[in-house]
Amino acid sequence: MKAKKILGTILCAAMAFTALTGCAAGGSGKNKVGVSMPTKDLQRWNQDGDNMKKELEAAGYEVDLQYANNDVATQLSQVENMVNSGCKVIVIAAIEGSSLGTALDKAAAKKIPIIAYDRLLMDNANVDYYATFDNYMVGTIQGTYVKETLDLDNASGTYNIEFTAGDPGDNNAGFFFNGAYDVLKPYIEKGTLNIVSGQKTFEEVATPSWKTETAQSRAENILSTYYADGTNVDVWLCSNDSTALGVENALATNYNGSYPIITGQDCDKANVKNMLAGKQSMSVFKDTRTLASQVVKMVGQILKGETVDVNDTTTYNNGKKVVPSYLCSPVFADANNYQKILIDSGYYTTADIS
Ligand code: BGC
Repeated sequence: MKAKKILGTILCAAMAFTALTGCAAGGSGKNKVGVSMPTKDLQRWNQDGDNMKKELEAAGYEVDLQYANNDVATQLSQVENMVNSGCKVIVIAAIEGSSLGTALDKAAAKKIPIIAYDRLLMDNANVDYYATFDNYMVGTIQGTYVKETLDLDNASGTYNIEFTAGDPGDNNAGFFFNGAYDVLKPYIEKGTLNIVSGQKTFEEVATPSWKTETAQSRAENILSTYYADGTNVDVWLCSNDSTALGVENALATNYNGSYPIITGQDCDKANVKNMLAGKQSMSVFKDTRTLASQVVKMVGQILKGETVDVNDTTTYNNGKKVVPSYLCSPVFADANNYQKILIDSGYYTTADIS
């Protein structure tokens, strides 16, 4: 009786401790991995989250997957919760790269390694690894597409161009913009490309939170201010698909000229449909399955104490350190190759994009 009581007390204490700490591997005995995603609003993060969960579970981990509704305070508390609930590694795609410092410090105090996923975590030394696509290359693919499609090296006239970039709080956004701008800059300087609105710095063309509606209203303003007199816009360089969609919506109702070249990134379903309908010229395919597999591999290497795969140790300085990174390769996509890269690869079904 007495022994039973003591055992009961121990069990109760253990349960209370578990409730308090969320204790390591829960009932499953498996290592728990936290995955913090920015939002369910954009298609890509849903795919990233799903892929990560599926692959981590297949590799034998318990997964705590959270979406933060694009709200920085929510993401901060979700990550802190992961720290306190016994996650062994935490993978984070940040809403705002610089805003998670307190959670990262708490993770470091518990020796929980952090992997920045797709977007670099900024201004904090407690970021162990970074896995992403080559973000600068995404921009150069877009810029090169414009250069080659218009044969800018041999062009005698002038083409009108506008830019729409991404979220200033996302470290990737500058890489995308600079990658594209660096390819096009010589032609802008020569006058082969003319930015009619004059808006050409990243700050001027950025889109807070990558919002379609924000990109749309800026494009509407530009169209009504600079193109209402019948001037054609020949190129609209958009850093990704959510912003391209905003520009495409604006063109549909605010523009009568000849339809421009429009770039994008992600191969979101809505944008692939637009590519097939001739409303978007290209996109950049970043196979989220590849990134998820790479990150799951890194998690395994960390937990087994093995050397972690990285292929870039110079590019991604987060303000406190250069974070060892693994860069996956982005792939050019348009209406001619979508069947092979998106359908035949099993990324989408035909129904997904019809
Ligand atoms: C990602 C892009 C995405 C954008 C908006 C960036 O950090 O790299 O793929 O289009 O965020 O979600």
